[in-house]
Amino acid sequence: MKITCIGAGYVGGPTMAVIASNCPEIEVTVADINPLRIAEWNDDTLENLPVFEPGLAEVVAETRGRNLFFTTDVRRAIEQADIIFLSVNTPTKTYGVGKHMAADLKFVELCARQIAEYATSDKIVVEKSTLPVRTAQSIKTILCNNASGVNFQVLSNPEFLAEGTAIQDLMHPDRVLIGGDQTPEGLAAIEVLTSVYAHWVPRERILQTNVWSSELSKLTANAFLAQRISSINAISALCEQTGANVEEISKAIGHDSRIGPKFLKASVGFGGSCFQKDILNLVYLCRQFNLPEVADYWEQVIRMNDYQKHRFSKLIIDSLFNTVSGKKIAFLGWAFKKDTNDTRESAAIYVANELLVDKAEVHVYDPKVKKEQIYADLDYLQKHHRGAMGEADVLTSEEIRQLVIVHESPYEAMGQAHAIAVLTEWDAFKELDWKRVYEGMLKPAFVFDGRNLLCAKEMNAMGFEYKAIGRG
Ligand code: UDX
Ligand code: ADP
Repeated sequence: MKITCIGAGYVGGPTMAVIASNCPEIEVTVADINPLRIAEWNDDTLENLPVFEPGLAEVVAETRGRNLFFTTDVRRAIEQADIIFLSVNTPTKTYGVGKHMAADLKFVELCARQIAEYATSDKIVVEKSTLPVRTAQSIKTILCNNASGVNFQVLSNPEFLAEGTAIQDLMHPDRVLIGGDQTPEGLAAIEVLTSVYAHWVPRERILQTNVWSSELSKLTANAFLAQRISSINAISALCEQTGANVEEISKAIGHDSRIGPKFLKASVGFGGSCFQKDILNLVYLCRQFNLPEVADYWEQVIRMNDYQKHRFSKLIIDSLFNTVSGKKIAFLGWAFKKDTNDTRESAAIYVANELLVDKAEVHVYDPKVKKEQIYADLDYLQKHHRGAMGEADVLTSEEIRQLVIVHESPYEAMGQAHAIAVLTEWDAFKELDWKRVYEGMLKPAFVFDGRNLLCAKEMNAMGFEYKAIGRG
């Protein structure tokens, strides 16, 4: 059997590496149109893989060249495959109909057209990217209207991995979900894909459904997870007013076995490529089906997240005597969570932007994110949210590069700073020599902990003005 995956990103790369590792007799090829990305995946030293994930380099080292291959030859990869995974990006649209709400399916559509054009034998096409409900139908329509004499089965097999723990999640998934047509051909295709996962996943954890249930389950799972974060973040605002401690509340309610302890960490706001995008998708879908009450209900999860990011920047500005103009604010972390180099929708971008508009100097340190990425993130935000911010708030690329300085060392970033903002919960930040940091800062030395990472007592004892989310 031969498997091809189109798209060598955060989902496609790790997922295929794990399939190759568990199925040595299956040849797995990952194809991408971006030659730089493919070159990085093929990098001899394994130090420049385009995705940073704990354990990933080891799996790639074991499988690459054995039964895992990375290529830019999309055509050949399609021709030779029995199963084709679609793992291309599906960002929120930034233009036209459904702007800022609907998923942009142009990459998926292009893939479907390429498959239709190049396929010379029957294929099982698997949706791996998160897609709006009913996308499988669109893919099928394109495939069936363009290819001659070739049969396609389209399955939905959403990926539930979380970044930073991708390899663990893939090796030991809570469940694998496979949706397909409930016809003899559809059920047979579901069985083929099930047999791949059954190499390492117990059968009872492989759930088989119809296509729409599978597509909608993915959006629902992410909406529920994000909703928990927005719920605890809403309570964090109340804690700050009343003197309650949100960490204590999370612990207290998490002990209720019906609620459970996970995803109750109050923070500066969730980021990542999935939560916001998937909820917006869900909201768009509900509006299209004329369910405004349902749409409003889920949209509030995003609003609360925006509010949380804004609240954090406002806390910084208010505490620094109502202006950060000309002040040096050090950012610890830029990635949307620890153990990843991914910055998509990271709260850090939004917080930095608000401080920059107030003319702060932002000094960033992140152990895995590259300088060019940080500038690209801020440029992107300026370009796509300009309307909402008004003319006065526009920053040019040159201004961004003058006001944002990226450092190789955390101590350098924090030296002579007026304030520190903790944006990502990297473990290494806990181990910093905080006494040394305090001595190097301007006084009063403010620390705004957006991740509840540090110990309030210790920080206060050292002399910091320490403020954390959800702790009055
Ligand atoms: C998420 C889903 O967890 C995963 O199943 C899906 O496949 C993709 O989307 P991911 O975005 O990679 O995964 O990371 P996740 O661990 O879910 O964190 C998302 C964001 O929520 C991060 O910014 C994280 O810091 C934040 N978060 C998470 C909190 O603020 N508090 C929490 O308690 C948990
Ligand atoms: P995800 O987080 O969903 O994996 P990424 O943006 O990390 O998303 O990866 C998606 C990848 O898909 C990118 O590397 C992009 O170059 C690739 N891609 C998009 N369209 C095509 C296409 N038509 N053919 C091959 N690769 C594609």
